[in-house]
Amino acid sequence: MAIAKNEQKSGERELNYMAGFGNEFQSEALVGALPVGQNNPQVCPYNLYAEQLSGTSFTMPRRQNMRSWLYRIRPSVTSARFVPSARINPERFGTHSEQDEVECNQLRWRPMPLPEHTTDFVSGLQTICGAGSPERKEGYAIHMYSANTSMQDSSFSDADGDMLIVPEQGVLRITTEFGILEVPPGEVCVVQCGIRFSVALPDGVARGYILEVFGSHFTLPDLGPVGANGLAAARDFQTPEAWYEDREVDFVVMHKLGGRVFESVQPFSPFNVAAWHGNYAPCKYDLAKFCPVNTVSFDHADPSIFTVLTCPSPWPGGVTADFVVFPPRWTVAEHSFRPPYFHRNVMSEFMGLIRGTYEAKQDGFLPGGASLHVCMTPHGPDTATFESGTTKDSHKPERLPADTLAFMFEVNYIPRVKKSALESNYLDKSYQECWAGLKSHFANSEGAGSNGKLTH
Ligand SMILES: [Fe+2]
Repeated sequence: MAIAKNEQKSGERELNYMAGFGNEFQSEALVGALPVGQNNPQVCPYNLYAEQLSGTSFTMPRRQNMRSWLYRIRPSVTSARFVPSARINPERFGTHSEQDEVECNQLRWRPMPLPEHTTDFVSGLQTICGAGSPERKEGYAIHMYSANTSMQDSSFSDADGDMLIVPEQGVLRITTEFGILEVPPGEVCVVQCGIRFSVALPDGVARGYILEVFGSHFTLPDLGPVGANGLAAARDFQTPEAWYEDREVDFVVMHKLGGRVFESVQPFSPFNVAAWHGNYAPCKYDLAKFCPVNTVSFDHADPSIFTVLTCPSPWPGGVTADFVVFPPRWTVAEHSFRPPYFHRNVMSEFMGLIRGTYEAKQDGFLPGGASLHVCMTPHGPDTATFESGTTKDSHKPERLPADTLAFMFEVNYIPRVKKSALESNYLDKSYQECWAGLKSHFANSEGAGSNGKLTH
């Protein structure tokens, strides 16, 4: 397993990462803090407490089994009783409910502005849609965040699932029990179920997207005929080295379970892990390192070729969710309509834009905005994109601009859209008009026009 070290200077603290995806990592911030040859000795080095964090059932086959051992100054159990958090409005953030609607129309949201009042990462979370059940450990939720202040002496953890965080604006400096990750726009990170973390904003503001998956974990997709290389390489994922603080302070610990957020106060920082080992740990990935594989002859390939991470469903071969990126690249398909084709998919598609202009929408789909096309809802290129795509010279290679980065959360279960998202002022009620100009161009060899009548 690769143990290469990547170093990154940030502020006053140097952040160190270990390379690889799902490795059996080990890291110690204090020399000798990791027990040797066993997980929980009678007395741990430095009198630390040993604590296991499991990400799968104990009896899961070895290939999927995930757990880590943490060696900490005080154990997680030492906190006051948890109570429902008054900081979170369950109408705004949590999970979907039976009262939320299914929506077969195409939906699009303009970017939400940054908050006017003091808002940190957790209080700035807004659920857009979701499906399935965290209690049954099947399904997902999609959230967005918008914040203007760092979390202070507080942490959050999600017992419902893993969070894939996609920043659109502002660096996230995420302190976790395993170490610190710094994630700028253009990179993504995964913080797995149960891991406590706190988000600081070095840029003062932040906005972005989150895909939360229940009961399963993100993994790299199989490559099939593509071979052993291509798409996201395991070695490009980065997991933080151990980092700890020994700080006595009234610390608010927030915890999401069953879509509800609870909180407690403990007299010390939970980021007190001096050493850890295991394969269940947060990681980040720079989307610029994604190696696209695409057509070199004709036709627009299906978007699955751009899958960065996938979350398997409970049945073999299916997925709960895919995370797909549309990176800058050359487009070379000959005698082909090069933009995305018109389609109705069995999967539901939530799209976001990190920067630039998406190739299928010349207008109206903005960085920080979003769109949702659910199961079998037709969608595709807007009128302007169709017109230019059918008239462009398709014998010349074209470079999709380097300043464009779009992504998609492709999800299986049909989502219910949160009432707050449907009633948002930022819902683009004129979205369907982008296709209104798609007039009939039909003319058959006998001269039949668009109304089916012979024109001669
Ligand atoms: Fe689509």
